[in-house]
Amino acid sequence: MRTIFLDLGLQPITNCFLPTPVVADEVFYPLRVQFDDDSALVSLVTTLRPELMFNETYAHRASASATMRESFRSVAHHIRDTFRPRRVLEIGSNDGAFISALSRDIVVAVEPCENLAGMTAALGYRTYPVFWNLAEAETIVKCHGEMDVIYAANTMSHIPGLAQALEAVTLALSDDGVFVFEEPSLLAVITNGSYDQFYDEHAHVFSVTAAARALATCGLEVFDLEELSTHGGSTRFYAKRRGRQSHVVSERVQQAIDRELAAGLTELPTYLRFAERVQQSRTDLVQLLSELKAQGKTIISYGATYKSATIFNFCQIGTSLLDCIVDTTPGKQGKFSPGMHIPIVSPEEGLGQTVDFAFLGAWNFRSEIIAKEREFVGRGGHFITHVPDVHIIKLGATSPRTP
Ligand code: TMP
Repeated sequence: MRTIFLDLGLQPITNCFLPTPVVADEVFYPLRVQFDDDSALVSLVTTLRPELMFNETYAHRASASATMRESFRSVAHHIRDTFRPRRVLEIGSNDGAFISALSRDIVVAVEPCENLAGMTAALGYRTYPVFWNLAEAETIVKCHGEMDVIYAANTMSHIPGLAQALEAVTLALSDDGVFVFEEPSLLAVITNGSYDQFYDEHAHVFSVTAAARALATCGLEVFDLEELSTHGGSTRFYAKRRGRQSHVVSERVQQAIDRELAAGLTELPTYLRFAERVQQSRTDLVQLLSELKAQGKTIISYGATYKSATIFNFCQIGTSLLDCIVDTTPGKQGKFSPGMHIPIVSPEEGLGQTVDFAFLGAWNFRSEIIAKEREFVGRGGHFITHVPDVHIIKLGATSPRTP
């Protein structure tokens, strides 16, 4: 049975960075999250048509941070050296952060956002500008044969029709092939209170338990996993065809499922408590920003992330509290944030001498950003985060909520 446990209000399309602050026909939808106690899957109640989100204007770049560039390079080399694949398929290749660490001869990529597909095609990687489904999987197998490795990062959580997407993986995988995919971890979301992992593109946020059950319905089995620090806590799954002896099932898989059981991830009350914590987080964040503003402080946000769109629209935080959002992505600069219409500028322009506080919209890159913005910190600037609860970050320690 499915139960709705979290209502994050009306939300915009997070990829819709606006050219002007006045928009008559901006699309909003109700962002509600449900738990299914049969499949243990946590997913959005309303999912949008994929074309509304993943199109030629898609702004997210997997290579935007050094942390992610290194993570993709290192997993690509690990896969190449461990499984020695003759053919590798990436589903959702974005700007090529993963495939560019592999030889063009062995890679096939699928990327529905045409701007991104064009980037990897221009680098010489065979890229299909399509959504992943059974028909495309058949076409790819016909042209290139079955795949020894299929890799997907932050992609399976983006596909509402999960069962069909996994069937397509099973179809394209060679008998002893390995399906490697990584996704934000539900356990990390619940532990961190990071409700901003729920947004239009995340049709599901996976626990190991739910991922294993979904894979099992398509004849696949998780044989190993890694806990990653990316995206505030992610899991990298390694799956094979059920019944094949090619890989031994690691005890790490059952250990992770046991940890989730102990944390209550298969029980509704856990999610109801999480929803209460989210309400408290909203109250605390609005109160802290309002108090600082009343003291005459200048506040901005750092990172025009899809995650921060959820926060600002849920908390109704706009230009009365934040002067701007800074972001290094050229395609986001000069635009306005979805829903709350906060101007987005480069860090050079927005993080000037007069800024006192910067909310970490890209809190998952906290270390990278703080290291980069030593000058801001050095002259007395402070970062604010809502993870795991709302507070001002003091370097080397965290302060109570008040300045
Ligand atoms: P993501 O969390 O969806 O990957 O988005 C991170 C955003 O933060 C992306 O738009 C780039 C931006 N960003 C900066 O502006 N400066 C930085 O130092 C880092 C790491 C990210």
